[in-house]
Amino acid sequence: MAPTHEELRDQLAELIAIPSVSADPAHADDVVAAAEWAAGRIRDAGGTAEVVPWDGGRPLVIGDVPASSGADSAPTVLCYAHFDVQPPDPLDLWESPPFELTERDGWLYARGVADDKAHLFLLVEAARQLADEGALPVNLRFALDSEEEVGGQSVGQWVDADERGADAAIVFDGDTYERGVPTFYTALRGLAYFHVVVRTGERDMHSGIYGGAALNAMHALMQTLSAVVPRDGRMPEPLRAGIDPPTEEELDGWAALRPGSEVLAAAGATPADADAAEEFYVRTWGEPAVDVHGLAGGSPDLVKTVLPVEARANVSIRLAPGQSVQAIAAAFEQLLRDAAPAGAELSVELHSHGEPARVSPHAPALELAREAFEAVFGREAMLVRVGGSIPVAERIVSKGIPAIVTGLATQDANAHSPNEKFPAEYLTRGVEVVRETYRRLGELA
Ligand code: BES
Ligand code: MN
Ligand code: MN
Repeated sequence: MAPTHEELRDQLAELIAIPSVSADPAHADDVVAAAEWAAGRIRDAGGTAEVVPWDGGRPLVIGDVPASSGADSAPTVLCYAHFDVQPPDPLDLWESPPFELTERDGWLYARGVADDKAHLFLLVEAARQLADEGALPVNLRFALDSEEEVGGQSVGQWVDADERGADAAIVFDGDTYERGVPTFYTALRGLAYFHVVVRTGERDMHSGIYGGAALNAMHALMQTLSAVVPRDGRMPEPLRAGIDPPTEEELDGWAALRPGSEVLAAAGATPADADAAEEFYVRTWGEPAVDVHGLAGGSPDLVKTVLPVEARANVSIRLAPGQSVQAIAAAFEQLLRDAAPAGAELSVELHSHGEPARVSPHAPALELAREAFEAVFGREAMLVRVGGSIPVAERIVSKGIPAIVTGLATQDANAHSPNEKFPAEYLTRGVEVVRETYRRLGELA
């Protein structure tokens, strides 16, 4: 008998309860515990699985569930999801504890439920059910990631090194353009994330005595960063190098989507400039974007007439399809160095990165997945790009493995935010659609 919604929810709650926050060293043991949990579930599905320690990274879970019969000739499907989550703060904005899976008003709430633990659970549970019934038509190879949220390289390196390859890959870490409408990504942006530090002296000074004559590190940082932020809606040209422009067909498709002004308004956002709303899809799907994520230095809270000599920033650039981390990270650093005032000591460290990806929309594997999702949801699928990044996608595509990049989260899932949520009905429905996808991918051979 297929598990009920309540049974599925209770199992997912076990994984949710492990606070596998990859960004926080205090949770390193929890990341390992989540890995053990996921490996255990793959074994419950009749497969083999190992927690694989990774040099310079966090552990991976690599597992295999063989096809129920004819495993030698059955196609192999690589299944990707990540079990690390973003930090839960600010905690006071959560209406229920972030690591207690809580069902309310048709939603399941918890940190990581949408991004990406429910997806991971659905991939493994559908495998378990089909294997149990002796009806799994494909060999499944799981590559589960514990450092997606910090831009880790481990799973990409594993994909590179795995010579067996696969006949298709499912990257289950996305959302639907509209609830109930199956959505497959044809492109993702990449990312280069930097720590920038400016030093202008040995120790902070009295601004009355030195102000006007000594170089202030906050000023130096502002001047430095101003070289990479957009002006009048245009990114500095060196940061646009290599963009592979959207096709006419894509642009026509984007023109029919919900107007950018509505999307921005729904998020409570202020358009960045006069053309931003009109160009929403081109900007977020087809162009690079620089964002300063945080600034630190001096005395932002207490009144203090200090002249700070150290200032720090976290800043990233999203890469458009066609661009490469190597070229754009170098151009980015050069712009900063050229803009820094004379005498300022500038340190630019590339913290993490992932290449942008383009996914062929016509691969037979994607057609089969699309049919599966359309059959279960009764809605025609959408093929769209996404502005976010899933670094492993490019590694998979560059190995020539046809990729199915999709997910069931909703755009209002509050991913990376308080009160993250996933539609409650998509536990049973999600198992159904993944089962149907595995079933149809059996036709790949
Ligand atoms: N699941 C997201 C990627 C995503 C974002 C898919 C939006 C669909 C819509 C993923 O977990 C994520 O947050 N990725 C990071 C990547 C980074 C840390 C390398 C991102 O996009 O910031
Ligand atoms: Mn994710
Ligand atoms: Mn994420």
